[in-house]
Amino acid sequence: MCGIIGYIGNKEAMPILLQGLRRLEYRGYDSAGIAVLNDQETKYKIQIQRIRAVGKIDALADKLKGKDKEMKGTIGIAHTRWATHGGVTEENAHPHFACDGKLIIAHNGIIENYRQLKEHLGANHEFKSETDTEVLAHLIESHYTGDLRHAVEKALMHTRGTYGLVVMHADHPDKIVAARLGSPLVVGIGDGEYYIASDATPLLAYTKKVAFLNDGEIAEISRTGFETYNLRDESVAKCVEEIDWNDEQAQKQGYPHFMLKEIFDQPTVLEDAIRGRTNLEDGTAHLGGLSMSEEKMRGIHRIILIACGTAYYAAMVGKYAFERLAGITTEVDVASEFRYRDPVIDEHTLVFAISQSGETIDTLAAVREAKRRGAFVRGIVNVIGSTIARETGAGTYIHAGPELAVASTKAYINMSVIMILYALQFGRLRHTTLATGQRLIHALMEIPEKMNKILEQSEAIKKLAEKYSGYKNFLFLGRGINYPVVLEGSHKLKEVSYIHSEAYPAGEMKHGVNALLSPEFPVLAIMTKNQLYEKMRSNIEEVRARKSKVILLASEGDTEAQSLADDVIYVPQTMELLEPLLNTIPLQLFAYHMAVLLGRDVDRPRNLAKSVTVE
Ligand code: G6P
Repeated sequence: MCGIIGYIGNKEAMPILLQGLRRLEYRGYDSAGIAVLNDQETKYKIQIQRIRAVGKIDALADKLKGKDKEMKGTIGIAHTRWATHGGVTEENAHPHFACDGKLIIAHNGIIENYRQLKEHLGANHEFKSETDTEVLAHLIESHYTGDLRHAVEKALMHTRGTYGLVVMHADHPDKIVAARLGSPLVVGIGDGEYYIASDATPLLAYTKKVAFLNDGEIAEISRTGFETYNLRDESVAKCVEEIDWNDEQAQKQGYPHFMLKEIFDQPTVLEDAIRGRTNLEDGTAHLGGLSMSEEKMRGIHRIILIACGTAYYAAMVGKYAFERLAGITTEVDVASEFRYRDPVIDEHTLVFAISQSGETIDTLAAVREAKRRGAFVRGIVNVIGSTIARETGAGTYIHAGPELAVASTKAYINMSVIMILYALQFGRLRHTTLATGQRLIHALMEIPEKMNKILEQSEAIKKLAEKYSGYKNFLFLGRGINYPVVLEGSHKLKEVSYIHSEAYPAGEMKHGVNALLSPEFPVLAIMTKNQLYEKMRSNIEEVRARKSKVILLASEGDTEAQSLADDVIYVPQTMELLEPLLNTIPLQLFAYHMAVLLGRDVDRPRNLAKSVTVE
């Protein structure tokens, strides 16, 4: 969703801000804007110059062409907006000025009481947009008596809602003020220059040194340093952290889309996720982030996995793993449901919050609720320093590297594998034998190479997508550990190609979904060689009897598959529990190629955002 980037230093701000906005594009947005404080030119009456545009960053870049003089300055803020309050218009795009054209702000989040605040500000303030953010700009202006940080502090006392906020004032060409409550902000520390952004991605090209603001903190950033305060005006010490992602990882590296690049990243990032976390001799895994004694681990009677979107389907893979390897009752819940029901939690419950971004608002709220109710809560998160990672205090990074396509691919694989490793770690303290543990680790080591064999079929899967691109509906079928795989495959197809699809456990077809079967409703089914092979085979026969076209995902060497299907994609065999790590990939490729063929905006599908920070 919305993204913020700010810069103060000795270089021209505008190109840095524009590039920053491009790096934030992945979050999803519908308009963008840049403001630069021009402290060098006198020709321009208003010292802060602002340019905004509806649509892609390219539209903003076009408007900025030839404006180098006007937009000159070494301090500035910029924003990508994902509309919540007010339509997608240039007037509603950020940054927003207050009345006198001296104070300007960009804001992520929602100010819930903005209507009351607007009324309270009254006729003395002229509003030019429909946004809650503009009200906040005027509110800060109304408290301004010469000290910008204090004005921001005072204004925020009157707000209800969430914010990640950056403020600039023409009388203060030497500072940016930033504040956070519920919407992340990270300070990037360069050499004589500082950055502020809603996540670290736009900073990777400039610095790896960062400091994360916590909720209720306000920072004053200048060219010589930054100071952090709480809302009681007390100074707060910040530790500087080093992020181990690099800018190269955040580029397309020759691929036409981030989604394809990230699908092809999977063999490498899977190795990153498991490196140093298994112990072959003991047939177990060691995920230090669990921070739990073996005695406490044995005392866990129930595991709850909470997540949204693709992370939820990865959590379903986790359920199979925890129950099979560790024999622990495991529940999976969509975070937005968990937070509003009355989950039964006691001191023997372990909750894992699974999130790529570590910022999804529902998952975060669920974490807080689970903590309040006394559960052990651990994160399984990709983005380093993200809110869920920090609020869970302990947990495991999945090491998928920057994931920039809105539709998640490599994070799903790494979340799944981390849960399998956790399940093994718990399992080895319970009933999983040494031999099973060792067999699993051996099989896991072979996965990257097997993934490469599937990726080599990308062109063949593209041809398949061409063949089926005229259909309006798809049905995905799987059983057992492949049920979450087809849910994810169907989810991917919907997200990026906008084709309607449904996923069912194949055993459930007779209870309703059979009514949909017809030659117009192709079925993509997983029938790999595992304990449910024969059951799945019978289900496919039923589908064929109803004249639906069948695309089968079958194990290499399965000579019967061809006779059951119109088309077959072969995948290497592995241990049943590890099948999602392989079987998901052809479905990701199918969705990707279908989306490209249909001319969709693959990396930024309509109406979707990468990181959902509002409810
Ligand atoms: C959004 C994204 C999905 C993602 C989901 C959960 O809907 O578009 O790709 O799976 O949020 O995000 P999280 O960052 O918590 O994994």
